[in-house]
Amino acid sequence: MTQLRQTTHVPVMLAEVLDIGLPGQNEIWVDGTAGGGGHSQAILNLLGPSGLLIAIDRDPAAAQRLSAELVDQRVHVRCDSYEHIPEILSEFGDAKANGILLDLGLSSDQLADPQRGFSFAATGLLDMRFDIDSGQPVWQWLHSASEREIADVIFRYGEERYSRRIARKIVLFRHEEVIQTAARLREIISASVPQTYKHGQRLDPATRTFQALRIFINDELEIIQRALDRLPDCLAEGGRLVVISFHSLEDRIVKNCLRSNPRLEVITTKPVQPTEAETVRNPRARSAKLRAAVRSDSPKSGNRNKYAAFSKVRPNT
Ligand SMILES: C[S@@+](CC[C@H](N)C(=O)[O-])C[C@H]1O[C@@H](n2cnc3c(N)ncnc32)[C@H](O)[C@@H]1O
Repeated sequence: MTQLRQTTHVPVMLAEVLDIGLPGQNEIWVDGTAGGGGHSQAILNLLGPSGLLIAIDRDPAAAQRLSAELVDQRVHVRCDSYEHIPEILSEFGDAKANGILLDLGLSSDQLADPQRGFSFAATGLLDMRFDIDSGQPVWQWLHSASEREIADVIFRYGEERYSRRIARKIVLFRHEEVIQTAARLREIISASVPQTYKHGQRLDPATRTFQALRIFINDELEIIQRALDRLPDCLAEGGRLVVISFHSLEDRIVKNCLRSNPRLEVITTKPVQPTEAETVRNPRARSAKLRAAVRSDSPKSGNRNKYAAFSKVRPNT
């Protein structure tokens, strides 16, 4: 087995994923958002000689790197969306998974790559697609969408109160130039919002708009919803579904889907959050929330109580 090279991405709540997901000997696990492979590697280490790990990422660069580096006969890498886990499992004789992990959003590797356009300072094209082979990049969409559409996206997916002002400025600027880079978009956003907003906020004034455009262009919320409707059927009885989200729009969908599915028993009464020690080590973990559920085909049992303690007592590691 080869050990995966650590990328700039540090896996979030790794100890909690393993404690709650409980990967065991000879199990079948699906990492639906394998990214830099940190979670995948740790899960694989617990699967034993006959385990199976299916590592999926929609980003061709991430999938290619995982294929090249996670060389192990127990590992199968797929460049695909996690909403297609049912079809992917059908390639393995309709296998049922003992665990599925979704660690939503983007990775630090993607954020750090100036050519992807995810970060404010990126000087490459304002692309923001996870899968650069499908859909249209943000810069192209911003060039053709109406002012109303832009404002609606920024409001809906970024909950940005200055969405209309930002959209108006974008449309004004695009008469003069194509807004091609993330750095340029950030300047335009900064010029659209009041000075007090810039200085009074802990976040960069462009944060919410960037989040909104990324979510929209990748269809992220709709994919989470569609996937969570389908994934319980892919689990074996007692199989675990573990989902880490990074903002309230995602978490709301995760919470509702896990609670309302009759085949799932939620085992985290409250979302599990990273310890203070982890957020100091890895500030990116700050907003993470982990929710988990077990596939249970019998009427709701006592699992909920069994794991409730996990939400309250957090090991300080
Ligand atoms: C937070 S990172 C995951 C990091 C990973 N857990 C690790 O330990 O390195 C999220 C990853 O999900 C991928 N992603 C986003 N949407 C996806 C989708 N619909 N299907 C599969 N992968 C997706 C992104 O490309 C990114 O690599």
